[in-house]
Amino acid sequence: MSTLTFGIIKPDAVRAGNQGKIVDRILAAGFNIRGMKLIHQTRKQAEGFYAVHAERPFFGELTEFMSSGPCVVLALEKENAVPAWRELMGATNPAEAAEGTLRKEFAASIGENAVHGSDSEENAAIEIAYFFSKLELV
Ligand code: RTP
Ligand code: MG
Repeated sequence: MSTLTFGIIKPDAVRAGNQGKIVDRILAAGFNIRGMKLIHQTRKQAEGFYAVHAERPFFGELTEFMSSGPCVVLALEKENAVPAWRELMGATNPAEAAEGTLRKEFAASIGENAVHGSDSEENAAIEIAYFFSKLELV
């Protein structure tokens, strides 16, 4: 069954001008893009989005980075969208990311790792609703 996941092309990848190449890869992998827009998050919005990581040592660094410039937020549809998108992204640490994954190709470090993906269907629904109104999803 076709399901939805949520993705972000993070500020490092947009700064490097890789957003077009990443969108190309998303389409080539068979995802249907149901929502897409360029936003620049405030620190507060980034803190709200990554609230589950609030107690982690990298939270300050992460939310500073995520609010450091524009990013592209995406609602992606595919068969088993959540694991399919995480597979295309690759491991969190690009040094461990498999050949052919987005993080292998576009990420520089574990902190600045080019893309985000939801880790469950439940979180995908919450994350899509955090950034998109109903009218912005086709
Ligand atoms: P994401 O949520 O962004 O898709 O990444 P993920 O599931 O692969 O990794 P997660 O454990 O959820 O971590 C969220 C983001 O926090 C940053 N991070 N920095 N400096 C560090 O040790 C560290 N560890 C994680 C990364 O940007 C990671 O994507
Ligand atoms: Mg995560």
